[in-house]
Amino acid sequence: MSDGEVFPVPKAWAQKAHMDAAGYEAAVAEVETNPDAFWTKVAGRLDWMTPFTQVKDVSFEKEDFHIRWFADGVLNVSVNCLDRHIAERGDQPAILWESDDGLMARFTYREALAEVCRIANVLKAKGVKKGDRVTIYLPMIPAAAFCMLACARIGAIHSVIFGGFSPDSIAGRIQDCDSRIVITADEGLRGGKIVPLKRNVDEALKSCPQVTDVIVVRRTKADVPMTEGRDAFLPDLKQGVSDVCEPEPMNAEDPLFILYTSGSTGKPKGVLHTTGGYLAWAAYTHELVFDYRPGEVFWCTADVGWVTGHSYVVYGPLANAGTSLMFEGVPNYPDHSRFWEVIDKYKVEIFYTAPTAIRALMREGDEPVLKTSRKSLRLLGTVGEPINPEAWLWYHRVVGEGRCPIVDTYWQTETGACLASPLPGAHPTKPGSCAKPMPGVKFQLVEADGAVITGAASGNLCITDSWPGQMRTVYGDDQRFFDTYFSTYPGKYFTGDGCRRDEDGYYWITGRVDDVINVSGHRLGTAEIESALVGNENVAEAAVVGYPHDIKGQGVYAYVTLKADVHPTDILEAELKGWVRREIGPFAAPDVVQFAPGLPKTRSGKIMRRILRKIAENDLGNLGDTTTLADPAVVEDLVKNRHGA
Ligand code: PRX
Repeated sequence: MSDGEVFPVPKAWAQKAHMDAAGYEAAVAEVETNPDAFWTKVAGRLDWMTPFTQVKDVSFEKEDFHIRWFADGVLNVSVNCLDRHIAERGDQPAILWESDDGLMARFTYREALAEVCRIANVLKAKGVKKGDRVTIYLPMIPAAAFCMLACARIGAIHSVIFGGFSPDSIAGRIQDCDSRIVITADEGLRGGKIVPLKRNVDEALKSCPQVTDVIVVRRTKADVPMTEGRDAFLPDLKQGVSDVCEPEPMNAEDPLFILYTSGSTGKPKGVLHTTGGYLAWAAYTHELVFDYRPGEVFWCTADVGWVTGHSYVVYGPLANAGTSLMFEGVPNYPDHSRFWEVIDKYKVEIFYTAPTAIRALMREGDEPVLKTSRKSLRLLGTVGEPINPEAWLWYHRVVGEGRCPIVDTYWQTETGACLASPLPGAHPTKPGSCAKPMPGVKFQLVEADGAVITGAASGNLCITDSWPGQMRTVYGDDQRFFDTYFSTYPGKYFTGDGCRRDEDGYYWITGRVDDVINVSGHRLGTAEIESALVGNENVAEAAVVGYPHDIKGQGVYAYVTLKADVHPTDILEAELKGWVRREIGPFAAPDVVQFAPGLPKTRSGKIMRRILRKIAENDLGNLGDTTTLADPAVVEDLVKNRHGA
């Protein structure tokens, strides 16, 4: 198979990058020959209160399953992200902020540290202690980063919930980790629209009686209802509070945060990351992949409610003494030049976004890009979903004027930070390929039955050994952690992704092979959407699959069987889309609802999703074996009434 154009490493990059091709090969070799020395260097970039003497202590085997890194070391994440930079870079901006409505703010390292300490002291005054869970539901404002770091300072575990999630989703996450304290804002602002954050929290808390305190950050200063004895505004709580707070000494394996993510079954999983390994991996990959040097203006457009925001808006850049730009808005407001104008305004050097945004902007043509300068840019990145070569080439040619390498970074919430990406000084790039694994990450392709695949071929992507940023468990459910990731292929971590390896050993992620779909870079479990749909009084049964979507990568296609006395109407279709918006969040709303008198099932009652996927994809000539269906006529009806048929 031809993989199209290859873009060589620009000479200047090969010469000055942190890692060139020979350096990459040497690092990969060192992991084999002297792993402890390699990993000690990776973690040695952090400041340890008590240096570690143990490096890696891992077994993926069922009998002796455990994952520990740098386990006897002691450190504090906020010290590594703030205090240690003060002497040299106290006056350098740590965080720049561009608001939705075009306002600008900057916080130096000194200011950021003072603010983090004040918030940490507020949390302490509320009785928050090491190990307590703090839920954060905030817009993209600097306070979000400060609250995360304030938790880290006192050893509390943060659970950040993306501001687009509904009250029901918030409640589920608060209950799952039994958090007693919630930090939110009066309102958010995105694309000129108000997001009623406090109101959503109030609604969620109706089913979370254990929550004793809600801390409300002022964003729009709107009048919002406050519950006496429970709710307080952060500016009031900060009055007279000290800007000094001793950092809590944390063991490397103490939890840092929980982040909920969708899986193929059941409710979202609380992915748990720990202190030492996570931070070392976030910082190491941030430096390597983006060839980052302290003080460069780095802009990752992800929301802090997703893992990309955790690792590449907050923890990676700040651990590396960076200047991280936080953006509250959206790419198309007030117009389609917004991203590029913000790049010019802040002289952004490294820009990191999602393919879905690139595709949406590409559709608007070159003019909104070309009217901006973008001279400050030197590197571009993508993350979250496969990028089609057409979008890659446009990003490269138009946005980067052909002079900025593109790093296509492949990773997951579970992996803490990047797993595979071209390194700009080491790897020629191929549009659509995440090139090679980071040094220390051991990819393996396997057949469905587990047989190992070598050479150029496609298979299921596994990782045969641990890396420090790996999640440690599903919060409160060790068994689910093991079962989800380590039981399909014993002794290996299974990513859930399909992947092809080419003749050059480059990897091409082809997408999920389980029932997880990726909509605009947002990860959704089809089971979650189905369970929301069947919660509607009109619905008897629902099956949801993904289908190719020009802008979103994948769209949500829902097959719905109504209860006996209910008739399909356009109004009901709209109602069901709105229902999912409210139950989960706007980004999960089905693009298509197809009413169906029945769903294709095997004789034992299992829904045959393969067929549903083919119909949604309009791949009708290739429905495969339908003879095992309980009622083959069901398929004819589905095809006949296919949306767009
Ligand atoms: O399918 C892969 C896809 O996104 C999934 C992980 O989603 P999430 O945990 O939300 O994390 C997204 C941000 C790291 C993966 O299993 N994915 C992520 N990055 C890429 C990708 N698919 C192809 N290419 C990528 N660069």
